[in-house]
Amino acid sequence: MAMAPRGVNDDQADYWNGDAGQRWVDGQEAMDAMLAPFGEAAMEAAGVAKGAEVIDLGCGCGGTTLELARRTGPMGRVIGIDISTPMLRRAQQRASEAGLSHTLFINTDASTHGFEAQKADLAFSRFGVMFFANPIAAFANIHRGMRAEGHLAFACWRPVGENEWVTVPREVALRHVAPPEPMKPGAPGPFAFAEPAHVATVLGRAGFRGVTLARFDHAMRHEGSVEEVADAVARMGPASRLILDASEDERSRILDDMRETVSRRHDGKGVDLQSAAWIVTASA
Ligand SMILES: C[S@@+](CC[C@H](N)C(=O)[O-])C[C@H]1O[C@@H](n2cnc3c(N)ncnc32)[C@H](O)[C@@H]1O
Repeated sequence: MAMAPRGVNDDQADYWNGDAGQRWVDGQEAMDAMLAPFGEAAMEAAGVAKGAEVIDLGCGCGGTTLELARRTGPMGRVIGIDISTPMLRRAQQRASEAGLSHTLFINTDASTHGFEAQKADLAFSRFGVMFFANPIAAFANIHRGMRAEGHLAFACWRPVGENEWVTVPREVALRHVAPPEPMKPGAPGPFAFAEPAHVATVLGRAGFRGVTLARFDHAMRHEGSVEEVADAVARMGPASRLILDASEDERSRILDDMRETVSRRHDGKGVDLQSAAWIVTASA
């Protein structure tokens, strides 16, 4: 596994190689359980053929890479690309343990990586393509690696207001700390592709055709006691940064408030938080 070079997405590389990446590694099983339905919806929309050559963009800890490899079978090949070294290490370890030797992991920036030209049948991602500083250049680069008959399919988040996994912890945090600077629409981050017109423009300018966006709604389930769920919810999404940056006193008040909020929604076994995604497809 080669090391990621530094480049245009250095801020994201620092973020995903730091605490955030480690949190994903530590919480990998729970994250995969929560996010699996989104990946499956994107795979169903894409249609993963036996023997296909697939690129899994921003594959993280590899949950979707493994599932794609099961779907292509050993005559296919799935290349997981990610900028995070700790997450990709976990992905590689899981692929070895599963005996999926037709997977390959490359620790690099998908926006500038020299993909083999016109090779991939499918470029896929579960929430891994919203972090590019220059999304048109990034998708044009990915497009160069795809066969003329190839397809693109990915899951990305709809607007913040439709996603309780963001609004619930954010509302709690903002009762105790000042709001952050508002993000510019389309800025790199989980909600960069919330607006359909922006997605269509980016992909169209990058060379893709026939862009479609389908709504996908899912109740994300957090199993555990009130304390466990409150702790997990506090680590999710943009509010987690507010909580990390808070003073010790503020953090303790936020966590007390989070437990109180979670206890009101807890059904004895856990909590459901609504989440809203787009399943985006396009042709190369
Ligand atoms: C929200 S996580 C999703 C991880 C994984 N797809 C999943 O569903 O579990 C976003 C992933 O995108 C990766 N990423 C962000 N920017 C990237 C880039 N420019 N090139 C490659 N990977 C990138 C991060 O390191 C991280 O693993």
